[in-house]
Amino acid sequence: MAIERTFSIIKPDAVAKNLIGPVTTKLEEAGLRVVASRMTKLTQVEAQQFYAVHSERPFYHDLVKFMTEGPVVVQVLEGENAVKKNREIMGATNPADAADGTIRKAFAESIERNAVHGSDSPENAKIEIGFFFSSAELATLTR
Ligand code: CMP
Repeated sequence: MAIERTFSIIKPDAVAKNLIGPVTTKLEEAGLRVVASRMTKLTQVEAQQFYAVHSERPFYHDLVKFMTEGPVVVQVLEGENAVKKNREIMGATNPADAADGTIRKAFAESIERNAVHGSDSPENAKIEIGFFFSSAELATLTR
């Protein structure tokens, strides 16, 4: 299996609860390596663009509001089968459905405030990584 990259966001609820370390530990224990990481506060336009695929969904407005309420940590994760591995360790979107041991089961409050985002496919991982990290920045970090 080839080494793959995926994109992760530690969301405002988890950052506010001082959970950057515990969330990252779960990612690392799952075999993923953080190859780029930055704390940022999304603007409304950034959140709208990042989640544009959900713009017709009833929860879109609240999702944008939540994602801009405080700082987030955006990360590039690397490892074998990274997209699938990250989604497994994240757990189901709704923490009520998430398996024991997953990030959302341990740390998420609700389907809206669900601690982490992770790319759902290698194609979207490339798009989402490119949304936050330039190829020059990634080349410097992984040199
Ligand atoms: P995420 O993986 O970041 O992708 C889209 C986000 O929209 C999702 O996590 C949730 O935070 C949110 N979301 C998805 N489905 C719902 C829903 N039914 N109600 C409210 N928020 C949702």
